[in-house]
Amino acid sequence: MNDFISVRDLSAKEIVCLLDMANRFREDEYKISTQLFAANLFFEPSTRTKISFIVAEKKLGIEPLDFHAETSSMKKGESLYDTAKTFEAIGANVLVVRHEADDWDKELADKLSIPIINAGAGKKDHPTQSLLDADTIYQEFGRFSGLKIVIAGDIKHSRVARSNAEMLSKLGAQVYFSGAPEFMDESLGYPVLSFDEAVENCDVLMLLRIQHERHNEFVGATLDYHENFGLTIEREKRMKKHAIILHPGPVNRGIEIDSSLVECNRSKIFKQMENGVYVRMAVLTKQLLNWGIIDENKIEKCNSLEQRQYIRKVRTVN
Ligand code: CP
Repeated sequence: MNDFISVRDLSAKEIVCLLDMANRFREDEYKISTQLFAANLFFEPSTRTKISFIVAEKKLGIEPLDFHAETSSMKKGESLYDTAKTFEAIGANVLVVRHEADDWDKELADKLSIPIINAGAGKKDHPTQSLLDADTIYQEFGRFSGLKIVIAGDIKHSRVARSNAEMLSKLGAQVYFSGAPEFMDESLGYPVLSFDEAVENCDVLMLLRIQHERHNEFVGATLDYHENFGLTIEREKRMKKHAIILHPGPVNRGIEIDSSLVECNRSKIFKQMENGVYVRMAVLTKQLLNWGIIDENKIEKCNSLEQRQYIRKVRTVN
């Protein structure tokens, strides 16, 4: 059975299917009618991914299990494998893992009877981030084909850049990289634009922060970086009228983007976070179905759109 580890393992059809499922979860409430537990094993800091997985699990009726690496038995030398096996033995039905190693999944592959979902692997993969980015782009444009999408910033150390370039290309978009030369990675094979070309020609500008935790390089003073490779107020004015700004977060205000642009009209940064909940509900459900842990009959539509519209109408009238 397949774990959910990399965009490389997904076809365009499977990606579209997951986006469609996310949309259903956005429109209607569904619950899984059997007791399930999810272990969220985060070995790297996270706010958005961890909390949106917990919200996604709770919305589906799955109980999240509390885990903190720094107070767990890993402090006594327990391995990732033995930690995962322990959660499986105790009753977890799905594992969500974030780890600083690029290939942490190899330690667990084919050794567990429950599905594993990648919530971030070193600088290699962040598949659920790519799904929520694709979801946000589709909400704006209703298509991927023909869109010019620029991923700008610390490409070399970014799992978001790698997963997004792969997913958005599979969906038919034209993907470019941009940023300081020391942060480019030619081996990835995507065309590179100067930052000013990128800003003026893109439909989607996806900004990345400098991944200080993965390297010691820095291209000089913060102010210089912002002037040379950041979205300044002046550059934003040169973007196409319909172009949007994305950022996976956390944002370094005043470095890759001027603070006042984080919440400007063309910024969809907080929309991305909202969408993260629905795509993660879709991934959790798909994995539980694929592994035979639930079947379709266990997913109950508890509150149809028509019912909710009716309730809203009744409330308004009253
Ligand atoms: N985008 C993202 O992965 O954010 P967190 O590190 O806060 O989860």
